[in-house]
Amino acid sequence: MKKIIITILFFGWIINTTQAQMLYKIQSPNKNFELIFELNQQAQPIYQLNYKNKNVIKKSKLGIKIKNGNDFIDNFKINTTQNKDFDETWQPAWGETKNIRNQYKSLIINLENKNKQIVVIEFRLFDDGLGFRYEFPEQPSLQYFTVSDEKTEFNLVGNHTTFWIPGDYDSNEYVYSTSKLSEIDAYKGKNATEIGVKTFFSPNAVQTPLMMKTEDNLYINIHEAALVDYPAMNLMVDKQNFSLSSHLVPNALGDKAYLQTPAKTPWRTVIVSDKATEILASKTILNLNEPSKIKETSWIKPQKFVGVWWEMHVGKGTWNYSDTKNIKLKTTDFKNLQPNGKHAANNENTKKYIDFAAKNGFTGVLVEGWNVGWEDWFGNWKEEVFDFVTPYPDFDVKMLQNYAKSKNVKLIMHHETSGAVSNYERRLDEAFKFMKDNDYDAVKTGYVGKIIPRGEHHDGQIMVNHYVHVAEKAAQYKIMVDTHEPVRPTGLHRTYPNFMACEAARGNEFNAWSVGNPPEHETILPFTRLMGGPMDYTPGIFEIKMSHYNPNATQQVHTTLTKQLALYITMYSPLQMVSDLPENYEKHLDAFQFIKDVPTDWDDTKIIEAEPADYITIARKEKGTENWFLGAITDENKRITNISLDFLNKNQTYIATIYQDGKDADWQKNPKSYQIQSVLVKTTNTLKISLANGGGCAISFKPAIKEDLKKLKFYK
Ligand code: NOJ
Ligand code: CA
Repeated sequence: MKKIIITILFFGWIINTTQAQMLYKIQSPNKNFELIFELNQQAQPIYQLNYKNKNVIKKSKLGIKIKNGNDFIDNFKINTTQNKDFDETWQPAWGETKNIRNQYKSLIINLENKNKQIVVIEFRLFDDGLGFRYEFPEQPSLQYFTVSDEKTEFNLVGNHTTFWIPGDYDSNEYVYSTSKLSEIDAYKGKNATEIGVKTFFSPNAVQTPLMMKTEDNLYINIHEAALVDYPAMNLMVDKQNFSLSSHLVPNALGDKAYLQTPAKTPWRTVIVSDKATEILASKTILNLNEPSKIKETSWIKPQKFVGVWWEMHVGKGTWNYSDTKNIKLKTTDFKNLQPNGKHAANNENTKKYIDFAAKNGFTGVLVEGWNVGWEDWFGNWKEEVFDFVTPYPDFDVKMLQNYAKSKNVKLIMHHETSGAVSNYERRLDEAFKFMKDNDYDAVKTGYVGKIIPRGEHHDGQIMVNHYVHVAEKAAQYKIMVDTHEPVRPTGLHRTYPNFMACEAARGNEFNAWSVGNPPEHETILPFTRLMGGPMDYTPGIFEIKMSHYNPNATQQVHTTLTKQLALYITMYSPLQMVSDLPENYEKHLDAFQFIKDVPTDWDDTKIIEAEPADYITIARKEKGTENWFLGAITDENKRITNISLDFLNKNQTYIATIYQDGKDADWQKNPKSYQIQSVLVKTTNTLKISLANGGGCAISFKPAIKEDLKKLKFYK
């Protein structure tokens, strides 16, 4: 179903003074939103946004500054305006729901600056928010140009509560701070002591997706969509006026973007609701991205995977084979290096994980540290650390390929670039060919450390283009991609469904070796980082305390064991790692059953309840079956929640298997206490569930068969 209606108005005859008084308005299809555009007295473009008759964004300026050229800031004249109605429903290759409705009304303003150069601003107003972008059509007097600054404002109406991480050009691996807009200060935020203030380019900058809550309980989320060939946007906070303005990530020379017409910026997005659940359910960011460029997508497979991974983060093994430093690709004979005896990616260990995956129905096995280079990988700023095709002497690629094949399992490739992006790009074809020759069809990439070319940033235009380039090239080889340390996602998985997951936030791994992620972390991420796309958070840690590996270790996962189960639902990803060591799962096979059962692709999703930094409860229906799965999580506070099962099919009785915190569970004092029960339920039931401090609950619902009806009791 697709419906487009277009109306165009020409204003060639209207003089500027008249235009300065004209207001152009559109309403969202459900009429909840109103967008108003005008030119002010200086003929600057101005927009404002209302939701349910309340002002959400006050009059805010739009504009782009050009280096050594003519700015797109003021003195505009409107050439034409155009209105469009759009309505279509599309099916993602994989996702949280089977169908996605893309319905909006748009206003497209063709503006001319005093040098007769054209910029088009398009607004799309959806039932849950706004997207807008700048477009520079092909034109003789503007062929290529350098953006020195984007001047987009979001002037807010009050001192909202904000869930923020500091502005940064290279990393989003931070703990969230919660404060009023007027109190945002990167030097005082939660990360300041851990990381040191020097990394922040300004105390007043924050990253998107930025989540806010107003005093009258409106939820506002600001981010961007379809970030391609342009730098990421941080936001500068004016704490007196509650105003945000765009701050683009610069390149090594301090320029922001090099554009060639026809060119488009990414969409700036403002999603608003009086219900927090609707923010999480929004598909606006995805809808603002282009349809899939990959026509045939049957090779793209959502899946769970295990890996030679967590054991290195907990210090049991190493990525490097030897402790010798300064090795040289091509000339070093790795067979003669002195092994350190802790190399995790060895044949025996990899076979153990393949066996474990095969036994439990997981299809992927990630192996990190399989290739030479890890002796020198970190913080060296060296080009030629990895070649992505040479295994260590104790990793037999062919033998393991055959072994995995005999067990119906696929190995997942790991390409850590250690920031040497130029090196990776030169070797990309060879690396992907090597993968295909050896039966790998998914890769986890990584960009730890400073970027080479020197001075470029993880979130600048060059790197934004790099991540897209890798996804496109991978698609040519039918390779699925999971990227660590990239720019935060902006819905590009609609266009490149093989670009399945990213890290781009502070993952579970921080719990292994740092102060970790506070219990509220996972209740904030869906409102922030996950607004742009799936996260490879790596859930499923059962051995919560690191003292298990090292008696002196104080680090721990900041959740209960059952909250780790619930994360498979609340932290959506089509690629979910089953992260802990096989032996840790063997000790809790009853709880492990949930991880075995939970799918990674869905027909439907219901966000049942949510409050940023407090709690989230989500139910999802498995793709192609009648099974439902539910995850509920809380922050550091315990919580009792009553969950109505009204999402279940009316004519069906289900077995609900409830994995919940034990009565004495507590993320710090007793994280591994849990209880499991199976009961019969119907859609009319309401489940009363207790979540411990830092706790969670996971439930599977499967249609009951005759024997179940005889054997099990109804929920009371
Ligand atoms: C950081 C990634 O997030 C992690 O998953 C990986 O194991 C290391 N880099 C090494 O590449
Ligand atoms: Ca809280």
